[in-house]
Amino acid sequence: MPQTLAAPAKSRPAKPRNPSVPLSKNDHLLRWVEKMAELTKPAAIHWVDGSQEENDLLCAEMVESGTFIKLNEKLWPGCYYARSDATDVARVEDRTFICSYSKDAAGPTNNWEDPFAMRKKLRALFKGAMRGRTMYVLPFSMGPVGSPLSKIGVQLTDSPYVVVNMRIMARIGTPVIQEIDKGARVVPCMHSVGAPLERGEKDVPWPCNPEKYIVHFPESREIWSYGSGYGGNALLGKKCFALRIASNIARDEGWMAEHMLIVGVEDPQGDKTYVAAAFPSACGKTNFAMLIPPKGFEGWKVWTVGDDIAWIRPDENGALRAINPESGFFGVAPGTSKKTNPNAMATLAKNTIFTNVALTPDGGVWWEGLTDTPPAQCTDWQGKKWTPQIARETGAKAAHPNARFTAPASQCPTIDPAWEDPEGVLISAIIFGGRRATTMPLVFQAFNWSAGVYVGATMGSEMTAAATGTLGKVRRDPMAMLPFCGYHMGDYFRHWIKMQRSLSVTPKIFHVNWFRKDADGNFMWPGFGDNMRVLKWVVDRVKGRSLGRETPIGWMPSYSDMEWKGLPFSEKDFDALQNFDREEWRREVIGHEELFIDLHDHLPKEMVYERELLICRL
Ligand code: OXD
Ligand code: MN
Repeated sequence: MPQTLAAPAKSRPAKPRNPSVPLSKNDHLLRWVEKMAELTKPAAIHWVDGSQEENDLLCAEMVESGTFIKLNEKLWPGCYYARSDATDVARVEDRTFICSYSKDAAGPTNNWEDPFAMRKKLRALFKGAMRGRTMYVLPFSMGPVGSPLSKIGVQLTDSPYVVVNMRIMARIGTPVIQEIDKGARVVPCMHSVGAPLERGEKDVPWPCNPEKYIVHFPESREIWSYGSGYGGNALLGKKCFALRIASNIARDEGWMAEHMLIVGVEDPQGDKTYVAAAFPSACGKTNFAMLIPPKGFEGWKVWTVGDDIAWIRPDENGALRAINPESGFFGVAPGTSKKTNPNAMATLAKNTIFTNVALTPDGGVWWEGLTDTPPAQCTDWQGKKWTPQIARETGAKAAHPNARFTAPASQCPTIDPAWEDPEGVLISAIIFGGRRATTMPLVFQAFNWSAGVYVGATMGSEMTAAATGTLGKVRRDPMAMLPFCGYHMGDYFRHWIKMQRSLSVTPKIFHVNWFRKDADGNFMWPGFGDNMRVLKWVVDRVKGRSLGRETPIGWMPSYSDMEWKGLPFSEKDFDALQNFDREEWRREVIGHEELFIDLHDHLPKEMVYERELLICRL
């Protein structure tokens, strides 16, 4: 149709939306919101549409209330800074519950409480919990809206900080409501910081409650989170939904919800191989997901699909396809720099929320490891003056070790063109890894699927700051899912074993360890970009281009199987790094047994046989 030349009607300024008017027509949702408002008694209800205007308004309100500081627009465009309460800085695993009908279904690695007793407790805690606050109705989709691999949730929360973080981490608002109104199943997620405001009471920048409950009801697919506003405790789409509840849904529906990053490795011929990798929290997943191939790898490229969670499903051809259910990165800031992860630095350069890093006098942010030379002075994550001298004298950190950035995945320079493909990407290899100073070589490949499941099931890692606990202690962390598997770990192993039955092409399974140390306590492997050398061997094995060497624990590369261009690394050093030490492995297998004893009545026999075979080979 030809354009009309008539003068456009004078545009009236759009009437601002009244956010208390429900966006949905779905009766179940409307009744639930009403019921929860009756319980929690918020001062107002706000249906989140996910728009930019709404986000700007919420951020401005949080600047006003002191929750947010707007960063210097020239240095950090569109970025905000938040400081949490000093007691609310990490996931609280000891306050995380799987309330299945039977204790046995949750298994010994989860905290369990009787669901009826827990509901009673939660009802008491949530009663009037939102008094004086706004209850946000936040519809979100884990995975691209409308993808057959995606799932939908609605989080009711009294934290605007959670709303603006969730807007980065998930697809939220009106498009999700449309799916709900078409009849999509919803996982209800109830969240309160547990800090009602009495009339006239002044709010604090980071309201929270010393009493915390992160509760999952796997059968009814419900989440209730109370008392915390931080990360995985409060952004319920992430660990609570996309791992704990989704692992239950996945088991029932025949797919896998995993604590895995996804990368696409492109060779100089343009051929791409997708790899999923599971590492425990704060073991460099984000760095690995955004790896830049080192010198000597000209023509190779690593593409990022996700840095934390993978939903993996067999397609109609029996191949595994994966999506990243998230749309942002909630990355650990300390240690992230232009040197260690230039792609993350480019991703977080704008439109990012920083929590618990340090604030510099020019309105910017800083954290340990960001620059070689620290700023002469800054304000630390607790709002106190920090200088390098104070740090030397007291050991005080400018940023909390679990300080985070929340940044949009779309801003990542290496984001894979297929990262939002509703069908997912084809997974050819799975990597397991942990932080191990001893025993574990740089890389080996499991003999087959069930041996690979054993390798993942017996994974161990030294503990980090991502959860409150004992730093440095090795704990068994099967498939990096110990804090995230929403049911009995033994049944989870069985599910992994059974998955192979739906596959006509089985991905190869590998174990890596970037953190082995020599007798003097020095790391034996440079890590970071040089991990590409390991990735290339993984791809070579997938493509049948490397023979490998058989050892008692699996296939290993010989020195000549690895690409060494650009890295002076002697065969002697490589042999030390790959060393298989019988004595260490004897102790390792005893460690496996400790986990297996806990799980014995649900342990699939394949795990027992694999262990026996390993012992025979030792
Ligand atoms: C995370 C974690 O935040 O694993 O990703 O703790
Ligand atoms: Mn994680």
